[in-house]
Amino acid sequence: MRVLGIETSCDETGIAIYDTEQGLLAHQLYSQVKLHADYGGVVPELASRDHVRKTLPLIQAALKQANLAPQDIDGVAYTAGPGLVGALLVGACIGRSLALGWQVPAVAVHHMEGHLLAPMLEDNPPDFPFIALLVSGGHTQLVRVDGIGHYQLLGESVDDAAGEAFDKTAKLMGLDYPGGPRLAALAEQGRPDCYKFPRPMTDRPGLDFSFSGLKTFAANTIAAEADDEQTRADIARAFQDAVVDTLVIKCRRALKETGLKRLVVAGGVSANKELRAQLHAFAEKIGGEVFFPRPEFCTDNGAMIAFAGAQRLLAGEQVDERVKTFPRWPLEQLRAPASGHA
Ligand code: KG4
Ligand code: ZN
Repeated sequence: MRVLGIETSCDETGIAIYDTEQGLLAHQLYSQVKLHADYGGVVPELASRDHVRKTLPLIQAALKQANLAPQDIDGVAYTAGPGLVGALLVGACIGRSLALGWQVPAVAVHHMEGHLLAPMLEDNPPDFPFIALLVSGGHTQLVRVDGIGHYQLLGESVDDAAGEAFDKTAKLMGLDYPGGPRLAALAEQGRPDCYKFPRPMTDRPGLDFSFSGLKTFAANTIAAEADDEQTRADIARAFQDAVVDTLVIKCRRALKETGLKRLVVAGGVSANKELRAQLHAFAEKIGGEVFFPRPEFCTDNGAMIAFAGAQRLLAGEQVDERVKTFPRWPLEQLRAPASGHA
């Protein structure tokens, strides 16, 4: 089955074609970073308008890349939430309409299910069950995954998501949007242990996170210290070490509590080199395994939506002809793929 995937939940237009037998045949990505840069963050209305401009041309480009025609597509998967409502509606309307015109089934994909299944696009995919650490701009969650649609939320952030903490701290440090990857790059120049940031909520039981205090801690440290480049890099390093350490501690706890040894890490922050290195070292130490998507599929992309949609379409799931989006959509509400109209 060949599935066209459409991702437009935020500031990236991602299009891909996934074949359940041959794997990924094409993927195209357009990032709106330049569009939002002057505003220091994503402007929802501008995002929607840009998805309108880019989605159809990228679908054409993906078909061309895979050397396919529309009649070669057997199903359409689009992100239906969570995300920015206007941005979601663009991908959902286009995806649902194309499926109607092409007379193939359509399926509505949960953005975070897309992220958490993304490591399955790689050569050595994880088996179920596993623990997923989802770390994106909007979510920080630990989820027990027993199969597609079998998700048990073990813990999540009570305030800022990890990516959001990276972005806000980067802004406080005067780094341009998108701050997360820039802060991570600056941290690479920093020296370890110059500043000691807290590891929030690690001193009490539980698997929830809190990252908003780290940003305040960073702001106070920046205000108190001389603003030369090395000091800024040292502060960035201390911030990143605190986030990474905290995530590792909670992953360790989640594996211990569930008795599982397989960890999947996905979402934009899983592109972070230090997080990848620390979790690899930790998995090795406990005789476990850790799985990441390739860096370009950590952040938003169409491939993960095509893949997740293909699994549900294969099981016979599809949506009816109404276009529905879910700007807020708890992952635990998902069910295993079911045949018939959802
Ligand atoms: O998954 P994603 O592309 O979009 C959402 O679903 O939110 O994640 C974007 C988030 C942003 O907060 C961005 O700053 C963060 O991921 N991010 C990073 C890195 N690359 C992206 N954070 C830390 N280090 C990175 N290398
Ligand atoms: Zn995302």
